[in-house]
Parts: sequence; structure tokens; C-alpha cells
Amino acid sequence: MSASSRPTIVAANWKMYKTIADVGTYMSSFYDALPDAGTGVRLVFFPAAVLIPAVVEAVAKRAQVGGQNCHWESEGAYTGEVAPRMLAAAGAELVLVGHSERRQLCGETDAQCAKKVVAVLSAGLDPMLCVGETLEEREAGRQQAVVLGQLSRAIDGLSRDEYSRLALAYEPVWAIGTGRTAAPADAQQMHATIRDAVASIASPSIASAMPILYGGSVKPDNAAELLGQPDIDGALVGGASLDAHDFAVIAAAAAEVAA
Ligand code: 13P
Repeated sequence: MSASSRPTIVAANWKMYKTIADVGTYMSSFYDALPDAGTGVRLVFFPAAVLIPAVVEAVAKRAQVGGQNCHWESEGAYTGEVAPRMLAAAGAELVLVGHSERRQLCGETDAQCAKKVVAVLSAGLDPMLCVGETLEEREAGRQQAVVLGQLSRAIDGLSRDEYSRLALAYEPVWAIGTGRTAAPADAQQMHATIRDAVASIASPSIASAMPILYGGSVKPDNAAELLGQPDIDGALVGGASLDAHDFAVIAAAAAEVAA
């Protein structure tokens, strides 16, 4: 466990990489490289939706599996979309909401994120809401306003039970896929700010129990320092999660920090 009684979560976001043929080999290499299956750490894989059943089978209850996105309706004439209950039926337990790539490339808005958070919860799945500022916003000194705006517009008005099922991921856009990681102290500061905001939006006890993950160029050589910060409760890993060995090293570093 990290600070207080929060779980440490190490999550792989595979984005639009890998096919069904890659899953078995990846998982064999990953679990071979991870002694004791990362004891003390909650592992989550977010593969493309079509890979979910294969990943669920391959992890064999040693990790949770989630969707990378969903629609907010439970069914309907929405060609190309996936409903939360479809992800649940495929074996997913979580769904990422509001990843910056969806906000930037697909025009996803805070209002849509709010609807998705509710839809995910209604389908019995746990949302992991992503927030983060662009480089331009950071350089203008607006990072806090941007992140807290994204947060409050997406999670306002949930019930206590619903808040207890929510996780957050702070992913500064300028750190995603760029090799530029937030300095651990800067990331810590933003995580503490986010936690304070959750205390105001929900309650102090909900805030102190809420997992807040960091994402953005997390690699084997920087994971321990980031995860050692008191308000960083895990990592949402993109590029480095595509390599089973690198992801196992990150999970092992998290297990060590959590021990
Ligand atoms: P990278 O780890 O490739 O920077 O991606 C982070 C991310 O977007 C995880 O959701």
C-alpha cells in the first residue's frame, strides 16, 4: 500500500498497438519477468477492445482488464462505438475516460467525459478519469486551472459509493510519448492539488482514499522515483508497457515502493 491505505496501481495502456496474436507471448514474458506477480500491486491492462477477452484469459485473474474508451449510451445506432456493458460482458472491470488522445484527436469534451463516467459506473465498471494540461497551457501558467476544471466538470455530483469506485490519472500532455517526464516534485504537487480538489468536490475521506496515477513517459528508470511521491499512487504506462520486460520492471519497482 502507498500513503494511507490506497492501493498502488500499475496500468498498461496499449493504445492502438498489438493484435490477438501478441497476447499470449506478451503475458508469458511479462509473468516470467515479474517475480511473485507483483505482490502488493494492482495490475491493470487496457488493451484495444477486441483484445479484451484474450487478455482476460491470459492474465488468469492475476490482473484486471479495462477498456480504453466507451460510449455513454448503453446501446443504440452509434456505428463504431462500444457500450460499457459490452466491455463488461467481454470481461473488462474498468474503463479509461477522457484520455488526452481522445480529447485532442477525437474532440472529446468534459461534458462527454462526465456522461461516460456515469455510464461506466452504471454498467458496474470502474472509471479511471484522465486529466492533464498541454504544454501551451503549462507555459501560460494555467495547468492547475485546466486540470481542476477537467476534474470538476467530469466528476461533480456522484454518490459516495460511486466516488469510491473512481480512480484518476494525471497525464500532462507534454509528457505523453515524448520522453519528457514531469519532475517528480512537480507531479507530486499536481497530485496533491488534485487530491485537495477531490476533498472539496466529494469529501476529505473520499479524497484520501482515491488512487491518483501519474502517466507520461513512465519508464523502468524513472518509475521508482515517481511512485515514491506521497500522492502518486500508481502509474499509467503507454510506450513502456508495450514491452513485457520493461512493464514487468516498472511493476516490480512499484511493488518495492509499496512494500
Ligand atoms: P507514454 O507512457 O507513452 O508517455 O503514454 C502515457 C499514456 O498516455 C498512458 O495513458
